[in-house]
Amino acid sequence: MTDTSDPVLILGSGAAGLTAALHLAELGIQSVVTAKGSLSHGSTWYAQGGISAVLSARDSTEAHVRDTLDAGAGLCDEGAVRFAVEEGPQLVQWLADIGVAFTRAENGEGYHLTREGGHSARRVIHAADATGQAVESTLLDQARAQPLIRLLPQAIAVDLIVVEGRVRGAWLYDRQSRQVRTLAARATVLATGGANMAYLYTSNPAGSSGDGIAMAWRAGCRVANMEFMQFHPTILYHQRAQSFLISEAVRGEGGLLRLPDGERFMPRFDSRAELAPRDVVARAIDHEMKRLGIDHVYLDITHRDPEFIRTHFPTIHARCLEIGLNMTREPLPVVPAAHYTCGGVLTDLHGHTDLPGLYAIGETAATGLHGANRMASNSLLECLVFGRACARHIAAEGGAAGAAAALPDWDESRVTDSDEDVVVSHNWQELRRTMWNYVGIVRTNKRLERAANRIALLLQEIGEYYGNHRLTPDLIELRNLALVADLIVRSARTRRESRGLHYNRDYPQRLPQAENTILNPREARPAPTLRAS
Ligand code: FAD
Ligand code: SIN
Repeated sequence: MTDTSDPVLILGSGAAGLTAALHLAELGIQSVVTAKGSLSHGSTWYAQGGISAVLSARDSTEAHVRDTLDAGAGLCDEGAVRFAVEEGPQLVQWLADIGVAFTRAENGEGYHLTREGGHSARRVIHAADATGQAVESTLLDQARAQPLIRLLPQAIAVDLIVVEGRVRGAWLYDRQSRQVRTLAARATVLATGGANMAYLYTSNPAGSSGDGIAMAWRAGCRVANMEFMQFHPTILYHQRAQSFLISEAVRGEGGLLRLPDGERFMPRFDSRAELAPRDVVARAIDHEMKRLGIDHVYLDITHRDPEFIRTHFPTIHARCLEIGLNMTREPLPVVPAAHYTCGGVLTDLHGHTDLPGLYAIGETAATGLHGANRMASNSLLECLVFGRACARHIAAEGGAAGAAAALPDWDESRVTDSDEDVVVSHNWQELRRTMWNYVGIVRTNKRLERAANRIALLLQEIGEYYGNHRLTPDLIELRNLALVADLIVRSARTRRESRGLHYNRDYPQRLPQAENTILNPREARPAPTLRAS
C-alpha cells in the first residue's frame, strides 16, 4: 500500500540523490536512499575537475549561460541553463557550509577557480583533483547523521511500480538475500547516474548501466537526446591504468595535446585549441589517431613547474607514478572514452517526469541543461540544483500521493535458476563492443544500421533469458544496458544532421533548426512484461 506517510524513495546515492535527500530532510520529509553496491560507488566519487559556478567578480551569469549554450550546440533549453547557472553559487555555498573543503586561492582570498573546455572564464571550484570524493564523502557524512534519511546499500531497483497511472515505489533486489522486495513510496526519484557502460571503454565505474533511464522507459516516460553520449578526450592509455581519467583541468592549467612527433595539433582544429568544448577535442583526437594509425596521443604539461603540478593534481600525479609515468617530466599517453550521458529521462525544472510520483535528477535526467554537448563541470552543478529543486517540489506537492493503493508483489513462480551464466557475459561484451565499433565518436548510416540489427537480436535473446531465469545483478544490468543501447541507436538514426556530440558522416551539416530527439515508449514497440503477479 502507498500513502503520504510512506518515505520518498531515492534510487541512487550520488551527488544528485543525496542532495535531494538532505533537502527533503530539511523540509521534514523522510527518505530511503538506495545504492546498487556500496554507497559511494558511483561517478560522483570519481569526479576530478570540479563544479562550475559564477564565483568571481571577473565572471558573470551571462557568460556562464552563453558558454553553456555554445557548448550545447544550439540544443540547450535556455530556461534550464539560466535556472542552473543562477542557482549554482548558492548550492556551492551550501556544500562549503556543510564541510566540503574546496581548494583555497593561492593568495588566501576566496577559492581557487580552474578552467576547463568551453569556459571563457575561471569558474570551476574544486577540491584539488578529487572534487567528487570531497563532495560525496561530505554528503554521505551528512546523510548518515540525519535521522530522516535511511541509507540502503546493496539494493538494486529492478522496476518501478505503477498503479493507476502513478509511480508508487519500486521492486528492489537485495544482494544479500537475493530476494526481491516491494518498497512503497509517496514519490520516487531516479538518481541512478548515466549509461556509459554501454561502451567498451569508459571513464565510469562499473554500475553506469542506465538503470533509471531503462526503468522510466518501461514505466512509460519519454526519453530525450540519447544520441549525445559524451566521450572524454583524455583517459590514460596504459595497460595498468583501468580507465583512469586525466582531468580537463590539466588542459585548463596549460596542458597541451601532442602527436608522437611532438606536434601540437589542436590549433589546426579550433581557435580555442585544447580548451575547445569536449566534442571538438575528442573528434580531433579521433581524427588524428585514424589519420596516422596510432593508438593514442599525448597530453603534455611538463612545461609547468613540478611543484605546481604536484599541488594541483596530487591524485593524478600519484596514480601516474604508481604505473611508472612522471607527468612533471614526460607527456601522458591518452585516448578518448565514453564519459557522460547528456540525454536521459525528460523532466521539467523540478526534475518531474511524465508520470505522477516520479522524478529524475542528475545524469539520469534530460533537463535541457546540456543540449548536444555538456560543458565540463556542469554535471555536478546539475545534480545539486535539480536535487534541491526536486526536493522542494515533492514537499510542495504535499500529500498528492492520494489514497493508499495495493501494490503487486514480485512473482518468481515461473522462473528457474540461471543455467548458463555465460550467456549474460557474452551478450554484455558483444553489446558494448558493438556500441564502441558502430556508435562511437564518428558515425555513419551503415554503422548505425549494423548496430541496430545486432542490438535487436540481443534484446530478443536477453528478453527471453530474463523471462525464464531468476534475477542476478548482472542480468538486471544487462537488460537495462541493452534497452538503453537501443534508445541511443534509435535516437542517433532519427537525427539527420551532425550536431554537438553526434557526428554522422552521411549528414555532416548542422540543420538550421535545432530539434530535440524525443522517444516515446507509448509510440514504440510494447514494453516487455513485468514480473508482477
Ligand atoms: P552517480 O554519482 O553515478 O550515482 C549513481 C547512484 O545510483 C549510485 O549510488 C548507484 O549505486 C545508484 N544506482 C544506479 N542504478 C541503481 C539501481 N538500479 N538501483 C539502486 N541504485 C542504483 N562532472 C562534473 O561536473 N565535474 C567533474 O569534475 C567531473 N569529473 C568526472 C570524472 C569522472 C571519472 C567521471 C566518471 C565523471 C565525472 N563527472 C564530472 C560527471 C559526474 O561525476 C557525474 O555526472 C555525476 O557525479 C553523476 O551523479 P549522479 O548522482 O547523477 O550519479
Ligand atoms: C574532468 O575533470 O575532466 C571531468 C570534468 C567533467 O566531466 O565535467
